[in-house]
Amino acid sequence: RADMVVDCTVEGLLHAPELPTIMKGVDGHMPRLLMVSNEHPEILERTVPDPALEGVVRAAMKKLRGAQQMHVTSAAGTDLRVNLKHGDKQAVVGGVWGFCPKPGMVSHWPAGLALAFPAAGSVNGTLVMAPGDVNLTFKSYLRDTIRLTIENDSVVAIEGQGVDVDMMRGYWKAWEDAEGHRAAYAVSHVGFGLNPAARWDAMAFYDKRDCNGTELRAFAGNFLYSTGANEVAGRHTLGHFDLPMRGCTIRLDDTVVVDAGQVVSAALA
Ligand SMILES: [Fe+2]
Repeated sequence: RADMVVDCTVEGLLHAPELPTIMKGVDGHMPRLLMVSNEHPEILERTVPDPALEGVVRAAMKKLRGAQQMHVTSAAGTDLRVNLKHGDKQAVVGGVWGFCPKPGMVSHWPAGLALAFPAAGSVNGTLVMAPGDVNLTFKSYLRDTIRLTIENDSVVAIEGQGVDVDMMRGYWKAWEDAEGHRAAYAVSHVGFGLNPAARWDAMAFYDKRDCNGTELRAFAGNFLYSTGANEVAGRHTLGHFDLPMRGCTIRLDDTVVVDAGQVVSAALA
């Protein structure tokens, strides 16, 4: 019967099987649930929930829901198309702004992210990860350039040279070998960060056990591409990469919402 649940578990309850039961509440009495990500206190201080984020995230979610296609390009060579709607198939849109104004709501802190889980067969193109882009599963900044070819949602070619490329190739292959299918190579979610208080460079200052990297999922203007489980597309795997990228231009149909890594505020008013 709690009104408010503050989730301080290490992994967070977001994907916990118990979450639906908790959120259903008792006798029509629904809680609010705020996950406090397992971050260094300094990161939480820097990204303390800001009421101004709600409007921006809601506007971005509305744009995502209304668009047919997301088109992502970059100077590094990214050229990726995500069909948010095609035929009777539709992406499922989500977003978090860091607080729960109503019962029944779930949010997390740090926040400031809008994203979509694309339906099956929606993502095609080239994704080029440049030095400084981030692999949050490894909690590391890339030093190499990695060129990923994506066909029908799935990474079908991994090109480049260096340790970063080998690490990603090896990790994906390990899930493929362990699970006996290639779902770990497929898209989980796509989206963009909207929080001006979150910093791209923050992870340089903490030991890996001192932060969870949620701040880097949220820094304003990042394009967040993720591979792994996607219930909307009916794919299940335990392999998951969250890959925030800098310097991308993101178009939702004809509207540029992120221009070379900068959020276009006028498009999200
Ligand atoms: Fe993710």
